[in-house]
Amino acid sequence: SQNRRYRVAAIAGDGIGKEVMPQGLAVTQLAAQRFGIDVEFVHIGWASCDYYAEHGKMMPDDWKAQLQDLDAIYFGAVGWPATVPDHVSLWGSLLKFRREFDQYVNLRPVRLFEGVPGPLANRQPGDIDYLVVRENTEGEYTSVGGLMFEGTEREIVIQESVYSRHGTDRVLRYAYELAQKRPRQKLTVATKSNGIAISMPWWDSRADAIGKDYPQVQVDKQHIDILSARFVLQPQRFDVVVASNLFGDILSDLGPATTGTIGLAPSANLNPDRRFPSLFEPVHGSAPDIYGQGIANPIAMIWSGALMLDFLTEGQGQGRAAHDAIVQAIEHALAQGPRTPDLGGSASTAELGQAIAQRLQAG
Ligand code: NAI
Ligand code: MG
Repeated sequence: SQNRRYRVAAIAGDGIGKEVMPQGLAVTQLAAQRFGIDVEFVHIGWASCDYYAEHGKMMPDDWKAQLQDLDAIYFGAVGWPATVPDHVSLWGSLLKFRREFDQYVNLRPVRLFEGVPGPLANRQPGDIDYLVVRENTEGEYTSVGGLMFEGTEREIVIQESVYSRHGTDRVLRYAYELAQKRPRQKLTVATKSNGIAISMPWWDSRADAIGKDYPQVQVDKQHIDILSARFVLQPQRFDVVVASNLFGDILSDLGPATTGTIGLAPSANLNPDRRFPSLFEPVHGSAPDIYGQGIANPIAMIWSGALMLDFLTEGQGQGRAAHDAIVQAIEHALAQGPRTPDLGGSASTAELGQAIAQRLQAG
């Protein structure tokens, strides 16, 4: 119902996570108020390398109990390689959330904005506007396999890919649902059924089976090699793109790279069943090279907050309107300035964040 209160963990983490989080919170809270969405933030200092320095671990032992009844996690960035190795900080926090909260969809919007120079020649805003849906729990990323005859001439290594019907169907269904709700209703299924001749034809057959429930959605299966080329050459072809874990990992970095700075790219790690909290975070990390100067671009953090409001209300309540209003305010700021240094300007994190907030309030 409209009056439900959503409780969200706000975890800034490390480095510029701490600088962009206040701007993300301010804009998200403002949009929530304007559209009558009741969001309460629970501020959490762990899942950070500062916490590690004090406690010798990234999180308290009861982290799961503390988080699992919340509706979402709004996350900055984790990592401070000068003091904590990256595999320790990442596996001790973010990757635990993704796995133990079964966040099986990784969603990344890819959009070219007016005012942001992209690396592709002759592209207009509107030419690049699609969503990458990556399977986030199985596929090529498994611990099934092993090494034999290690260190000898006979050395062999095997790592299996694992696709379950459960895991595949649920991410495909999510992608079809998403495509069906968008004006163009197009779904591109990434495959490699010519080369990976057992699992990928099976993946395609599951796409066909699930697609029977979505006759309005126009489906296009593309091999991952040519699909990657088309992200660069014909990005206007794409609307929603669904891919296995590895293919999706690559596509979800390639796509945002075609639209300019990493300071813009948001992401959602979703448990669409809502048995566990979903996590919303910028694609970028803690950027130790610019931390402390107050010049990080806050847009990826702010846009991630917009994705969160949309997801929390299931696209039925006011969350979609709040999302769209935030994205419009971002569009306006990108076209008119102020600009942070990664966008070619000299504005601070706070100046850009406040400009977006003001636009949101005015509009
Ligand atoms: P990074 O994304 O932190 O930085 C890469 C480059 O992009 C840097 O030059 C940085 O200054 C710039 N950049 C990133 N975000 C920006 C923003 N909002 N505005 C302006 N410029 C921005 O990636 P890097 O350097 O590989 O990793 C640094 C740390 O972050 C490591 O500890 C790494 O493990 C962690 N990391 C964490 C992630 C997460 O929390 N999801 C994701 C990626 C990296
Ligand atoms: Mg990646």
